[in-house]
Order: sequence, then C-alpha cells, then structure tokens
Amino acid sequence: MSQNSPIPAPISSIEIIRPDDWHLHVRDDDALKAVVPFTARQCGRAVIMPNLSPPITTTAQAHQYQKRILKATEPYNYFQPLMTLYLTDTTPVEEIQSALQSGIICALKLYPAGATTNSAAGVTDIKKTYPTLEKMQQLGIPLLVHGEVTHHDVDIFDREKQFIEQRLLSITKDFPELKIVFEHITTREAVDFVTQSSPYIAATITAHHLLMNRNDMLVGGIKPHHYCLPVLKRKTHQDALIKAAISGNKKFFMGTDSAPHSQQNKETACGCAGMFSAFAAIEFYAEAFDKAGALDKLEQFSSLNGPLFYGLATNSDKITLKRESWIIPESYQFGSDRVIPLRAGKTIQWKVISK
Ligand code: DOR
Ligand code: ZN
Repeated sequence: MSQNSPIPAPISSIEIIRPDDWHLHVRDDDALKAVVPFTARQCGRAVIMPNLSPPITTTAQAHQYQKRILKATEPYNYFQPLMTLYLTDTTPVEEIQSALQSGIICALKLYPAGATTNSAAGVTDIKKTYPTLEKMQQLGIPLLVHGEVTHHDVDIFDREKQFIEQRLLSITKDFPELKIVFEHITTREAVDFVTQSSPYIAATITAHHLLMNRNDMLVGGIKPHHYCLPVLKRKTHQDALIKAAISGNKKFFMGTDSAPHSQQNKETACGCAGMFSAFAAIEFYAEAFDKAGALDKLEQFSSLNGPLFYGLATNSDKITLKRESWIIPESYQFGSDRVIPLRAGKTIQWKVISK
C-alpha cells in the first residue's frame, strides 16, 4: 500500500448462515424460561447439556425436557433443541437403541465423576461404559466429552492435557469409529490432538476461551464471573485456540458452553463454574474473529462445520451482524434471581440485527 492510500474502512456488517450452538446449558423451570430464548433468537439449533439435578439419563426424561424447552421458545418456531443423555457407569445398552429411535437424542455426554457442575453421577471408570460406547459406535451416535481428569493431585491447569494422555488416547484407540466431540477445548495440546486425529474426532471452542485467558480471571483481583471449567488457561493456549477456530479446519466449531448460575451462587466463598454468554453468543465470536482479522472464517466455524460433523443440513436462513457497539446490561432476570452476564456493564462491538 502506498503512503497516501486510505486505510480501508472496517467491515461494517456481515451476513452469515444462521449459526448453531453445539454446547449449551439452559437449566430448567423459570431459569430455563429466562435464558433459552436468547439462544433461540440467534441459533437454529442447540445441543442441550443434560447436567440437570437429577441428570437427564433416559430418553423419556429428555423428551419431557425438550417439551419444556420448546414451550419456552415458542416464538422462535424454527429453533430445534438437540437433546443429549448423561452417560453413567450403568447406562443400559438398550437405552442407546431407544435414543436413536426417538429421533430427538443427538449424542451422549461423558462427565468424569466430580469434574464439574452436577457431575457426581458421572462416569467413575470409563471401562464400565465400554458396552454402551460399543453400541454408540455401531449406531453412529456421538460421544461428547468433558475432557478433564479429576484426581485431586493433578493441577487444575493440567487436567485437560492429562485427560488426553490418560483417557482420550485409549478411548479413540479402542473405538476408532466412535464419533467424539472434545468439548470446550482450552489448550494447545487439545488443538494438536484434534488436528492430528481421525475425522471421527472434532471439538467445540467457546467464545470466552477465545476472548480471555487466566489473567482475565486473576489479575487485579479474583473475578468469579470469569471462572468456568475447564478453567481459563495462559495466553499461549488462547492463541492456539484462536488459530484453530479461524483455520478453516472443519473439525472445530462453535459451542458456547454458556452456563448461567445465579449471582449469589457465583459471588460466594465457593462459587459455581460457568459463564453466561448466550445473550450475545455470535456477537462475542464475531468480536474474536474480527480481532484476529478473520471475519470471513466466522460462518464456517459457526454455521457449517458443526452440521457437517453431526451429519445434518445447514440452516436455511441467514442472520446479519452489524458493527455497532452496545452496552451489556449489568444483570438479567434468572428465575427469581439475577444472572450476571459475561462482560456485564461493558461494551461489545457487534450486534445481530433482526429482520
Ligand atoms: O463452567 C462450566 N459450567 N463447565 C461445565 O463443565 C459445566 C457448566 C455448568 O453446568 O455450570
Ligand atoms: Zn458445558
């Protein structure tokens, strides 16, 4: 560019195929009613996490839960909640057949017992689930993995890396054709593992792990609203995640892991893990991709790669994102409580414009 050429004006708006959220917590009852419409407003589909209390372990429970979600998203009649089952040591093999036949279950979720919110009923020994995993492999039902070991001697910042070495390598070796989504990856090691593995392995990446690193949680005082699991890592890992997300590699796609908790359950001596980002999910991703100079790669990550992996069609309509800054509210209603959104009271640079 010559010295006198004008600096190109930044892109002021983009149109993308309607995105999907491949990893979402919407809770239940009044909290559900408060949060799920945010997702339905912008996403065509969302993979609904089953870690309610008690967890969703049967197709019959998932069916009831789906009905409650559909009721809460009635104005958005295009929105499809894709349901999941919570894998336990004792999930019967027959449940996998019913899950497939129901047509509403898209995957099973593996929580190592004790890894995160409502994971007490999770898997204590992966070998106990092998007959179930065998059936899932046979029927083509994906396994969604919370990839952290839980042993108390393992440093919290190393739990994902150790999970790859101690668990994921053997699961992928024992079930080479089991579809696996390594959920909410947070490390360079996870990026490398997924990149180098077979086409049966993919990963979701959250907007908050693209936008923040552990300094955003710990420098200048502990920020409970930036605490999630897997926990934010150092900047080198954040950089590896950004590189993966904007790479165009079909294995990486959007999964917000938006996980709302009440203000009081976050701002306490032992606060819950999870950030609430669903109210501006695609806007947060747009900001991350824009910062990386890769807005042209957003649609592939948010709207194409996920359906491709799950063997579903892409959404048929589009949304428009405009470069327009707005201030995020200090809190939102959350049943009888409030939830503090990600970046509360601060500015965000993108906005979905409704047609
Ligand atoms: O931060 C998180 N919150 N990570 C999880 O794995 C669970 C989630 C939740 O349900 O609150
Ligand atoms: Zn989650």
